[in-house]
Amino acid sequence: MKIGITGTPGTGKTTLAKLLSKHLKYRYIDVKKLVKGTEVDLKELEKTLKPLLKDNVIVESHLIAEIPLELDVMVVLHASPRALKRRMKKRNYPEWKIKENIEAELLDYFTIYAEENYSKIIHIDTTGLTPEKLLRKALKYLEKGLSDNINHEKELLKYALYNKI
Ligand SMILES: Nc1ncnc2c1ncn2[C@@H]1O[C@H](COP(=O)(O)OP(=O)(O)OP(=O)(O)O)[C@@H](O)[C@H]1O
Ligand SMILES: [Mg+2]
Repeated sequence: MKIGITGTPGTGKTTLAKLLSKHLKYRYIDVKKLVKGTEVDLKELEKTLKPLLKDNVIVESHLIAEIPLELDVMVVLHASPRALKRRMKKRNYPEWKIKENIEAELLDYFTIYAEENYSKIIHIDTTGLTPEKLLRKALKYLEKGLSDNINHEKELLKYALYNKI
């Protein structure tokens, strides 16, 4: 099976991809290692990724939502603004970057792109889950084709209107 994982920075893509690839014994493609610098050419990345997507593989990046790859399923991770802020603060992200990423979640940017490019999408809310619990949830959802109903609108709107979390 070919699994993609995408979503807003801080939602736990790398954490889940590593745990899943270890558990399922799938190859893990770290897109961050394939792109250099901040200016990413998505067409180039698509060309680089295509031959790597063989057999059982997990590819993970916020960039792949925008690229039509031959994947069996695209997992879009989500988290509440509060959870995102907490995780990004721990990583010492500057305020502007935290804001930018919460705004991406508010606009549901990754869902919009994923829906453009992929037919099978599984949404997972990672809020309040430990990495281990997230792994269990992802395994169950992948097996049964389940998906979360993401519902952080109120919290996201409060953030957008009043800059409050
Ligand atoms: N389920 C979780 N619960 C709490 N913290 C988590 C969880 N998953 C990941 N984290 C923490 O949140 C931070 C971001 O996780 P991770 O690096 O997996 O996100 P990412 O989506 O890959 O981000 P990026 O797009 O920046 O690479 C890390 O410090 C990680 O330890
Ligand atoms: Mg990552």
